[in-house]
Amino acid sequence: MRSKAVAPELMSRVIRFHAHGGPEVLHMEEEQVAAPQAGEMRVRIEAIGLNRAEAAFRSGKYLESAQFPSRLGYEASGIVEALGEGGVGFAPGDAVCVIPAFSMTRYGVYAERANVPASAVLRRPPELSATTAAALWMAYLTAYGALVDIAQLGKGDAVVITAPSSSVGLAAIQLANHLGAVPIAVTRSPHKREALLAAGARHVIVHETASATTAEVMQASGGEGVRLVFDPIAGPEVDTLAAMLAPQGTLIVYGNLSGAGDSTPFPFREAVGKGLSLRGYLVFELIRDPQRLQAAEAFIRDALRRKAIQPTISRIFPFAQIIQAHRYLESNQQLGKVIVEVLSQPIH
Ligand SMILES: NC(=O)c1ccc[n+]([C@@H]2O[C@H](COP(=O)([O-])OP(=O)(O)OC[C@H]3O[C@@H](n4cnc5c(N)ncnc54)[C@H](OP(=O)(O)O)[C@@H]3O)[C@@H](O)[C@H]2O)c1
Repeated sequence: MRSKAVAPELMSRVIRFHAHGGPEVLHMEEEQVAAPQAGEMRVRIEAIGLNRAEAAFRSGKYLESAQFPSRLGYEASGIVEALGEGGVGFAPGDAVCVIPAFSMTRYGVYAERANVPASAVLRRPPELSATTAAALWMAYLTAYGALVDIAQLGKGDAVVITAPSSSVGLAAIQLANHLGAVPIAVTRSPHKREALLAAGARHVIVHETASATTAEVMQASGGEGVRLVFDPIAGPEVDTLAAMLAPQGTLIVYGNLSGAGDSTPFPFREAVGKGLSLRGYLVFELIRDPQRLQAAEAFIRDALRRKAIQPTISRIFPFAQIIQAHRYLESNQQLGKVIVEVLSQPIH
């Protein structure tokens, strides 16, 4: 297919940063939109789902390094506007979601229009509005990859979910319930207890001291410990988490909210004594494997159709308030996803 000609005056407002720092380094700038290259498509963005990874990237503490001026943003929903060479399976006007399968500095989706790799585009589930769809894929693909694809959690299996009010934590609670497993939320925020119970956590344990938290988890899991711990905090508390696991249990560490990831201990006594599996995990391992991604996508779409899952939105900001949205993301007040609406009116 030939690449479509783009009017030279086609412009887009885009968020960029020129140096690492706090939310205030984010600037709204105008740029001329390039035609999508081979294997890319241009998406008119309707809503952006914010991820903690983007705050880390902005601050210079992420896996990928920014090249300045840098774009950012992994996840969005929108409408296909144009296809580059080889763009098959989609047509202009299709409602889609962009999933995190690319370099942020190059393809970041904090913009009115973004060219993204076609491999990072999925059809928007018909059950969801553009705003809600922007809260779907990062959270549920990440949680699915750990709970289903890796740990193969089943009926009655207990799972400890730390940072449970994060978008991924809430997705994990919903998926655990869908699997018939027992989600145990371990939060450091006592005021979120009722909301986490309402969100489906079977038990909510407020983390105070390591020994008290471990004792409460052991009790909640019937005395044996849990089959899985799903943790995005890392750092010294990993020793405590290993103590909560049943023999042959699995600890999946998938983030560094503590900032102490590099000094995460190896919990020797627990790991060897109980034959634990300790694993690092990035959702990219799932997304880059077409078969695993296909299975994940089918599972999540089916769960949505059955109303077993529903993305939780904490707060919605307009595009012009991207700085405030990042401040809120890092305030840890949220319960679920922070969304930025780029178009307040749907365009179809
Ligand atoms: N590996 C992957 O592929 C992958 C994919 C997606 C996300 N992640 C990671 O998953 C984590 C959650 O992402 P998100 O975008 O869903 O985050 P988010 O919504 O911004 O998560 C905020 C929540 O995390 C908890 N939290 C924040 N700082 C903490 C700290 N220092 N110690 C303990 N808990 C803390 C708090 O929950 P409570 O108040 O309930 O304790 C807070 O409300 C991030 O670390 C992110 O990088 C990893």
